[in-house]
Amino acid sequence: MRIRKAVIPAGGWGTRFLPATKAQPKEMLPIVDKPTIQFIVEEAVASGIEDIIIITSHTKKAIEDHFDRSIQLEMELERSRKRELLETVRSISDMANIYYIRQKEALGLGHAIACARTFIGKEPFAVLLGDDVVMGGEPALKQLIEIYQRTGYSVLGVQPVPMPEVNKYGIVAPEQPFRDRVCRVRDLVEKPAEKDAPSNVAIMGRYVLTPSIFQLLESQKPGAGGEIQLTDALHNLLSMEPIYACQFSGRRYDVGDKVGYLAASVEVALAHPEISAQALDYLARLALDKNQPLHKAIARLVKQRVDGKDAGSPNEGK
Ligand code: G1P
Repeated sequence: MRIRKAVIPAGGWGTRFLPATKAQPKEMLPIVDKPTIQFIVEEAVASGIEDIIIITSHTKKAIEDHFDRSIQLEMELERSRKRELLETVRSISDMANIYYIRQKEALGLGHAIACARTFIGKEPFAVLLGDDVVMGGEPALKQLIEIYQRTGYSVLGVQPVPMPEVNKYGIVAPEQPFRDRVCRVRDLVEKPAEKDAPSNVAIMGRYVLTPSIFQLLESQKPGAGGEIQLTDALHNLLSMEPIYACQFSGRRYDVGDKVGYLAASVEVALAHPEISAQALDYLARLALDKNQPLHKAIARLVKQRVDGKDAGSPNEGK
């Protein structure tokens, strides 16, 4: 069956980003010049999704305005002959069919997904979490959909994390070692303590789910953090049908975290057609200036690497 519909939960408070999120949705914070939720919607569309439902709350009107047409702005851009900007603005409202449901109480991710039951009906569907932005290569969701087409069962997007970070994620116990980036899931647990974690394979905000999840979500009791957890309902789904995990390729950023957000912004800036050269020049100058902390940090990292004490690639982390 084709995956045509996607759910994007966007009801949370964004407390990790206060005060920036006091009066605007965290999903509208721009990564350079594009709101984070637009990256998510673009990934869904590039993965073949046609209908998107965004689960919002009362503070999220700006998201609806962003994906709607703005006739006044279009007229102004037309009048001032800003053709390229006009195209950009128009294309946002033509991207996909986007619908909205309000989650009346913030009872957790599982509850947010359950709100989409009527909209989804009896089809398999995708879920994309707004805090996880994935860049580079084939869209992450598309990779999961390909596995769904082969298996016919739910697929979770995963990546390994350092063991001390397992308590920030849903963690998967693989049935057997990954083969071609895929494995069957034996068990899964939401935000375990490091000592209880069955592995370091973390769920990274991308899911393809069979509609059987809805009946489980409806009777799901609150779990970690007192919230109705999607991971707990998936744990129960395992006794009814198989679940697969797909270790998708791509660089994933937790843009709900300040450092993850900064890292995503640097990546986008360095690839941005208008500002990449200037951004690179700015960073290079900071790195060369002996009075700047960046210069000292680089010297420290170079020394650690020479001494064999540096782990290597940066950790965008949660
Ligand atoms: C949610 C999920 C968790 C997943 C994480 C990915 O947690 O509950 O299983 O690993 O997203 O970002 P949250 O970060 O919303 O607490």
